[in-house]
Amino acid sequence: MTAPATPAAANPAPLSAPVATVQPLAIGGVLVDPPVLQAPMAGYTNYAFRQVVREFGGAGLLATEMIAARSASWLETNRGEHPDRLWGVREEPRPLAVQMWDNDPANLAEVGRRLAHDFRVSVVDINFGCPVRQVTEKAHSGSWLLRDPARVGEIVRRVVDACGDTPVTAKIRLGCSEACQTAIEVAQRVEEAGAACLTVHGRVAAQYFKGEANWEAISAVKKSVSRLPVVGNGDITTAEAAVERLRTTGVDGVMIARECLGKPWIFAQTAALLRGQPKPADPTPAEQKELVLHHYDLVCQRFGGERGTLLMRKFACSYAQGIPGAREFRGHVSRVTTAGEFLEVVHRFFPQAGVK
Ligand SMILES: Cc1cc2nc3c(=O)[nH]c(=O)nc-3n(C[C@H](O)[C@H](O)[C@H](O)COP(=O)(O)O)c2cc1C
Repeated sequence: MTAPATPAAANPAPLSAPVATVQPLAIGGVLVDPPVLQAPMAGYTNYAFRQVVREFGGAGLLATEMIAARSASWLETNRGEHPDRLWGVREEPRPLAVQMWDNDPANLAEVGRRLAHDFRVSVVDINFGCPVRQVTEKAHSGSWLLRDPARVGEIVRRVVDACGDTPVTAKIRLGCSEACQTAIEVAQRVEEAGAACLTVHGRVAAQYFKGEANWEAISAVKKSVSRLPVVGNGDITTAEAAVERLRTTGVDGVMIARECLGKPWIFAQTAALLRGQPKPADPTPAEQKELVLHHYDLVCQRFGGERGTLLMRKFACSYAQGIPGAREFRGHVSRVTTAGEFLEVVHRFFPQAGVK
């Protein structure tokens, strides 16, 4: 699966002065500084990807892929897909948010409790935004729950109670469909239930990734709550745009998803602009090649060469932005099955160090 592309956005005017008005974001006792968050993305934001983001720096909070809270049994048996989805979570640096999904308050409370007290994650996040049928129609979870703000509130309250001092956050879309835009009511329930932050993706679920994110609607959600910090999300494609959204929309933070898959350095660029420093240049194609090989190494350490190669295909496609012959590279790399094939394609398309 390749992630849907972020729509090309008009870049705001270059910034010249320090952005003095942007404050760090407090999510309970966790300081998110700068208030620029790496979004959870299923199939992508595993430990290897997070490690790459961390090495570039600049993201105030990193998030895992979402995990299913259907039953807590996988935490005991350490079998199934979830050990992979929790890869690195116990040991890696903080702050780190782990996201979970389900529609059952008891399941979510139990898994939240384990994440908070046993895994000692910084933030427990609950998904109320996923538009995928397997999660919505089949499991009545994710964005399906936006049609029932009271249930969202009940879920958040149960998880907050279970997590003690660990802050609990929620991530939503504007609603299920154009006709069912419940974000404001949901935000108020989430606030009353004791959540420490709310992230709003400015689309309804029925849109998936079509159209443009509606940042006016995100601002309206922010205005509708009294103390709950709100993070805005949707279609941020440059560091300048991230800063502009922070300055002009009233949100307390911004979250970046698709664009950081090919540009994990976007957080470092945004952080520099927020400090009033010049924006660091994008890596050269030769540096991008080093990045691909480093990411591949991290993936293979965990999954071995065979599975690691298959998993790495989609990341390599994302990293190919801007290299000569990117399209052809993607065509080749998305069919490789062995480490030898993968490395051959990378060496063929990415320039050597020292070559521009
Ligand atoms: C491949 C992919 C996987 C995603 N998985 C999740 C997920 O597990 N949890 C979640 O809350 N959002 C998920 N999202 C949504 C993103 O977090 C984000 O809300 C959305 O992509 C809009 O932000 P963007 O325009 O910066 O990409 C996913 C998005 C993509 C493209």
